[in-house]
Amino acid sequence: MPSRDRPLVIVANRLPVSRVRGTEGPRWKRSPGGLVSALTPIVRRAGGAWVGWTGTTGKAPDPFEHDRIKHVCVPISRSQLQRFYYGFCNGTIWPLYHDAVRQPEYHRHWWRPYVSVNKRFATVTAESAPPDSRVWVHDYHLQLVPSLLRQMRPDLRIGFFLHIPLPPEELFGRLPWRRQILEGIMGADVVGFQTQRDAQNFLSLARRYTDARTEKSIVHLHGHSLQVSAFPISIDFERYDRMAEDPRVIERSKQLQQQVGQGRRIVLGVDRLDYTKGIDVRLRAFQELLARRRDFKRECVMVQLAVPSRERIQEYRELRSRIEEIVGQINGEFAEVGLIPVQYLHRELPFEELVALYRAAEVLLVTPLADGMNLVAKEYVAAHGDGSGVLVLSEFTGAASELQTALMVNPHDVNGLTEMIALALSLPKREVSRRMQRMREVVSRHTVYDWADSFLAALTD
Ligand code: ADP
Ligand code: G6P
Repeated sequence: MPSRDRPLVIVANRLPVSRVRGTEGPRWKRSPGGLVSALTPIVRRAGGAWVGWTGTTGKAPDPFEHDRIKHVCVPISRSQLQRFYYGFCNGTIWPLYHDAVRQPEYHRHWWRPYVSVNKRFATVTAESAPPDSRVWVHDYHLQLVPSLLRQMRPDLRIGFFLHIPLPPEELFGRLPWRRQILEGIMGADVVGFQTQRDAQNFLSLARRYTDARTEKSIVHLHGHSLQVSAFPISIDFERYDRMAEDPRVIERSKQLQQQVGQGRRIVLGVDRLDYTKGIDVRLRAFQELLARRRDFKRECVMVQLAVPSRERIQEYRELRSRIEEIVGQINGEFAEVGLIPVQYLHRELPFEELVALYRAAEVLLVTPLADGMNLVAKEYVAAHGDGSGVLVLSEFTGAASELQTALMVNPHDVNGLTEMIALALSLPKREVSRRMQRMREVVSRHTVYDWADSFLAALTD
């Protein structure tokens, strides 16, 4: 079979839809996060299968077809959810890989369920993947799957992509299970990262903590060779570009501008409610601007969208309280009747509404302390075909190495961020347009389809 025609199977912790309990019984809704946003159009186009978790515990439903994607469900028990997902994935790996911006916890009783859930994902995939498939494993939840799967199904071509940053030795070396994790990933034929720096970190870690030998970007371990490269992820540019030009969206975007107050300019933030995103820092910077210039609240409004995330974890609950407290403080201090400086929406918005808001916003603040890529930054760029819009972007995102005409900020520097927001609002139109056009060239030339094609080409070579 020509390698391009081999069936495609995606393996990721979350399925593209999650089962939620509504008032009228369970229903399915789109899963949160950039991984699902990016991969859904790829799998739909390939007519492939997706192996993942439904978001609820207990017995898994039988495989089903939805939106041209075959969903193969992996069961997760309540105790695995606690120790694997909330524990090892989001209490150990997530903070450690994001520059340890929160203290990672290391527990043996979290590691064992991580191994067993990875075994279960590998088994379900081995049992369901058609002969000679290309199996593409995603993200930090499933780092052991490549090597487990290779042992079970040597006929498969296996890829692995990490959506979040991979830290350098100083941080990664703390992990008690560092060798097992590296060897787990090394079961793949192709391993992809968001940036060159992440790929270089992997090569150094492989040399330092395993018996692997490296030759440029090729790693050799126990008779198996794999390719390690950077494959920066992207978005379906045309979908956002087209939607932003839809007359209904243009109308809605004008409406939004009027609703916040005639002439007030929208400064926007759009994130999962995660401590890596620097939402509190940008609120502080906005507060500082309000304090420095009392008339500012008549000129601008900050709109912050925050999708609820991982709410059973204490740190996430604390973050939510802190953000709501800061929003309350700012509005308490600066609001007048009918004039609210910060509008905070703790929910997901439908696609059309999100694009209308991107279009309506004069400035987007993307201020993570660490982020693999940040697709929101690219979506905002795709929604500004008219050349308007200023992107304020943290240096510590993967997107910063591509979107070089964004206004770059260090999110640890509240003063610098405050000044950058003021600058963003005072840039001459021609300068705004020059910067935006340059970013649009970059994103339109490298879409999520190009990303997937280049990874899958490497996998099938
Ligand atoms: P992460 O993967 O860490 O959540 P990304 O920025 O890469 O961060 O991806 C976030 C995805 O979630 C984007 O596709 C974005 O459009 C979507 N998203 C974020 N906030 C909202 C919201 N309030 N409503 C709808 N979609 C949202
Ligand atoms: C990030 C991760 C994804 C994850 C998503 C949502 O994008 O890279 O793997 O699915 O966040 O987080 P959740 O914990 O809800 O799956």
